[in-house]
Amino acid sequence: MLQVARARPWRPLCAQSIQARRRYVHAPRQRTVTVLGETYPTDDYTNLPPTIAELLERRLHVTPPHPLNTIRKLIASHFEGFKSYDDLPAVVTPALNFDSLGFPPDHPGRARGQSYYINRGIMLRTHTSAHEVDIYRQTPRSGGWLCTADVYRRDEIDRSHYPAFHQTEGARLVNVADMDKLKAENEELRRGIKASRIIMEDCPDFDAITNPLQASHLPETVLPMAQNLKLRITTLFMSIFPPSTTPLHVRWTPDIFPWTSPSFQLEVRYRDAWLELLGCGIILDDTIARGGHNPAEERSWAFGMGIERIAMPLFGVPDIRLFWSKDERFWKQFKDGQVSKFQEFSKYPPVERDIAFWLPVGMAKPHAASHAAGGEVGGWEENDLWDIIREVGGDLVEDVKIFDDFWNEAKGRRSLAIRITFRSMERSLERAEVNEITDEITAKLTARLAVEIR
Ligand code: DAH
Repeated sequence: MLQVARARPWRPLCAQSIQARRRYVHAPRQRTVTVLGETYPTDDYTNLPPTIAELLERRLHVTPPHPLNTIRKLIASHFEGFKSYDDLPAVVTPALNFDSLGFPPDHPGRARGQSYYINRGIMLRTHTSAHEVDIYRQTPRSGGWLCTADVYRRDEIDRSHYPAFHQTEGARLVNVADMDKLKAENEELRRGIKASRIIMEDCPDFDAITNPLQASHLPETVLPMAQNLKLRITTLFMSIFPPSTTPLHVRWTPDIFPWTSPSFQLEVRYRDAWLELLGCGIILDDTIARGGHNPAEERSWAFGMGIERIAMPLFGVPDIRLFWSKDERFWKQFKDGQVSKFQEFSKYPPVERDIAFWLPVGMAKPHAASHAAGGEVGGWEENDLWDIIREVGGDLVEDVKIFDDFWNEAKGRRSLAIRITFRSMERSLERAEVNEITDEITAKLTARLAVEIR
C-alpha cells in the first residue's frame, strides 16, 4: 500500500465556497451541449466539460505562426506527394473512432473514464486513426496521405499531459507488384541514415508469436513495407531535428494495435529518458478492404504521432499548456514555418494546496481493481477528479499528484490526498484567488463524486 506523507488537516469551507457549493449541488444536468456551434442532446454518458468543448474552436495546427502549424508543414514537406487532410471535425461516432479499426467491445479506450462523450452515440476523436478508413476510400491505388488534427483524451495533469493534443497520421499504399522498387528506395534511405548522425536501434520486422505477419501475407510483401515505414519515419526525424553535437538517438520496439500487424512504436532519447513518439504498423487486410482497397493487391503502412511531443523539444517549450496560451508574448515569438527557441517570459512562483478526502463507501481498495477498464472502479474514475480540477482551475493548474492513498479497514473506506500545484504562466497568483479555486474544487468534488472531505 502506498503510504506517503500524511495529509494536512482540512480547514472549514469559507462562505464564498458554500455559495459555490450550492450552485453546483443543485445544478441540473444540462439537457444539451453545444460543440462548434452544433447543439447535441446529452444522456447518461455525457462527460464533456465546457472547458474542453471550447478547445475545439482553437484550430492551433492550422493557425500560423503557431509551432504546431509549423510542425505540420515540416512533416508534410517530408512526405512529398501525400495528400493532406487537416480540417476533419473532431466530433465523431464511436463506430468511426473504434469499430472501424476493429477495437474489441471491451477495449479500455472506449470507457467513459478515458474518452470524452457528448452522448452515447457521439464523442470527441481520441486519435487521428479515426479517419483512416474514410481517407483510404478517397485515396487512389499506390497513394499516400497525411491527416493532422486535435485529439482528446481524459488524462492526468502535469507539464506534458493535456486533455487535448494533436496528432499527425500518415499512410502509404503500395502495390504488391512494386516491392522491388520499394527495396531500391529503402536502400537509398538507408544510405542517407548511415551518412547522418542519427542512431537508430531497430527491432525485428516481425515475430511469429508476439508480432506476427498476417496469415495471408508473404514476407516478401511485408518486410520491404515494414522497412520502408521505419526508414521514412527515421529520416523524417533526421530532417526535423537539426544536426547538433548530440546525435539523435531513436529506437523501434514491437507494439500492438487492433488494426495493424506487425506493429511498432518509436521512442526518442530526450533528457535521459525514452519519450514515446508514435505508433505504427502494417494495416490489417480487413481495414484495407473497409477502406475500399483490394488486400490481395495492395499493402499499406500507417503511423500516428503526437506532435506536441516533437514541438516541445524542438521549440524548447517547457509546458504543454503554453501551446494553448492566448498571450501575445507566446504568439509573437514565432514566425510561420520557422523553428526557433522559445524564451520563457518569466517563471512565476507555484502555489500548492492539498485536499484529502474519503471516497464513497463501497469504492474498491487501492490497487485492488488494478486499473480495470479505463480506471473505472465501482463508479469511481480517477479521470473525473482531474476533469473537475481542470474545469475549475483551468490552465492555472500545473500539476496534480496523489501523495497519499490508503485503505481504512475499520471504516471500509479508501482515503486519497492530492496536492495541486497552481502556477500561472502569465502572472503571479494571489493567495486568496488560489484559496477560492481550491474551495470551489472541493465543493465540486463533494457534490459530484460524493467524496467526504477529511
Ligand atoms: N492511433 C494510435 C495512437 O494514438 C497510433 C497509431 C498506431 C496510428 C498504429 C496508426 C497505426 O496509423 O497504424 O496511439
